[in-house]
Amino acid sequence: MKITGKELRQKWLGFYESKGHTDIGAVSLIGDGTTGVMFNVAGMQPLMPYLLGKAHPAGKRLCNIQGCVRTVDIDAVGDASHFTFFEMMGNWSLGDYFKREKTAWTFELLTEVFGLDRDKLCTTVFAGNESAPRDEETAGLLIGLGIRPEHVFYLPKEDNWWELEGTVGTPCGPDNEWFYPLDPEKEDPVFPEDYVEIGNDVYMQYKKTAEGYEPLEHKNVDTGFGFDRMLLFLNGLSDAYRTDLFTGAIAKLEELSGAKYGEDGEMTRAMRIIADHTRTSVMLIGDANGILPSNVGAGYILRRIMRRAIRYCRRLGISSGAMCEVARIFIREVYSEAYPFLIEREAHILSEIEKEAERFETTLQGGMKEFEKCIMGIARKNEFLSRQDPAYVPETTIGGKQAFRLYDTFGFPLELTEELAAEKGLTVDRAGFEAAFKEHQEKSRVLAKGEAKGGLESHSEMAVKYHTATHLLNAALKRVLSPDCNQKGSNINEERLRFDFNFPRPMTEEEVKAVEDLVNEKIREDLPVVFREMPLEEARREGFVGVFDGKYGEVVKTYSIGDFSKEMCGGPHVERTGVLGHFRIVKEQSSSAGIRRIKAVLE
Ligand code: ALA
Repeated sequence: MKITGKELRQKWLGFYESKGHTDIGAVSLIGDGTTGVMFNVAGMQPLMPYLLGKAHPAGKRLCNIQGCVRTVDIDAVGDASHFTFFEMMGNWSLGDYFKREKTAWTFELLTEVFGLDRDKLCTTVFAGNESAPRDEETAGLLIGLGIRPEHVFYLPKEDNWWELEGTVGTPCGPDNEWFYPLDPEKEDPVFPEDYVEIGNDVYMQYKKTAEGYEPLEHKNVDTGFGFDRMLLFLNGLSDAYRTDLFTGAIAKLEELSGAKYGEDGEMTRAMRIIADHTRTSVMLIGDANGILPSNVGAGYILRRIMRRAIRYCRRLGISSGAMCEVARIFIREVYSEAYPFLIEREAHILSEIEKEAERFETTLQGGMKEFEKCIMGIARKNEFLSRQDPAYVPETTIGGKQAFRLYDTFGFPLELTEELAAEKGLTVDRAGFEAAFKEHQEKSRVLAKGEAKGGLESHSEMAVKYHTATHLLNAALKRVLSPDCNQKGSNINEERLRFDFNFPRPMTEEEVKAVEDLVNEKIREDLPVVFREMPLEEARREGFVGVFDGKYGEVVKTYSIGDFSKEMCGGPHVERTGVLGHFRIVKEQSSSAGIRRIKAVLE
């Protein structure tokens, strides 16, 4: 290695600190909801208010290395250059220096610190349009620094304007992009075909509005150079999985599988996917605002990433335990200095990876049989019809309803069905899936409305939340204390829930805490609350619990919350546990002999 990841970090931060910048460190990878983006996708994202004019406590010159998660290209991961997690080396001027200093510093860093050849550097500037002028100023400064005039190109908005797509009220502006030949040894490289972008300086002077762009009072600079890409490039490599960020992970996968990286295309791809997805899972679970795999939002993306990694472990012929071994390398070796908190959270991260692997194993076992049935059905139909009609065009699509059944009953994410289908040369009717999904939601909504009228006395929004929380509490008590704990009574109003259950002694403080934690974990997982009607016998067989007092008829109403809670119940309930907020037990006391009473609140 000519330069290691750790050295590159130090060089970037050290250089900008020497120019009066403060290293503000990285923030959480999870978006704060203000921009509508789930994850941080650019280093500037957490700095948005300051780029718009607010004073930053660390001053006007800032730098850091910020992790980003982008999953739009997830299907491309597996090639030599795509990642779902990467880091952006950044520095900013908040209304302080502008083009003169910035061009000079980027030039100095690239040519003197990183040793790039000034004669080979190419750079592009904004060609101008009705929103902003042609950036002759930057072009002039670059040529003045020593960049060959024929290496400065003017390009239109599609190329040389930076903004967060799909947002308004966000800062943006023309940018100056920097390029270097992919193969630095090549004689007379030609721009752009022989070049790769290594980073950009954005001159953020505008605010994007619904109508167009308005000038900002402050002129900012927003610089971003891809850390992973720069590392690759400075080491003269063309495969990003050969930098020291990945060599440990890849070596571990080679050791476990017996396969050699780079020999077989499929195996190499599998190793890259496992390595990339494991790294992203470590970062998302171990993050300051860490998330857990679930069925919605960011949790769903994490689940998808983790399950994809597990599937590729199987393909590589190794167990999902490999993910934990690879995770340990990232935590202890690669990111121990840059993200020391990962070490503190190692046990949590590894246990979540293990749990998800177990859950997925169960899901796969159940669903694969159903999936095979689908495939067999299509094959039989094709065989039958092609025998009857030689011109028959074989069916190559799994129906939307079938895909929805795999999702709803067997927990197969649509993407998993699609990937499995692709392995058999089939596709999935996505529109049909969406339609089946909508139809199902509509049905549940109508049912829930109907229920709200046969169900609770008071069904204000808050009481409904407490009702769902009661189910979570019931299930948590069975797990923490004993499966023999049963509901003996409950009472809900808009301010609290009260729950009576059989248990022979007071709960310890630790037990109270464990129950609270478990309920809150299930709230955070944002589990769907699913209503189904079924014959009593079937409900019993499926493990639904309920207080039997003769009220139930032949067909019972049931609510399940993920695979955590299953109760016979008339509802109503919230649609997903995420809306419950935070659950806290305020009292645990005796109710009568052998019966305990819990009072709890949602806050
Ligand atoms: N905001 C710029 C980028 O992400 C620096 O490329």
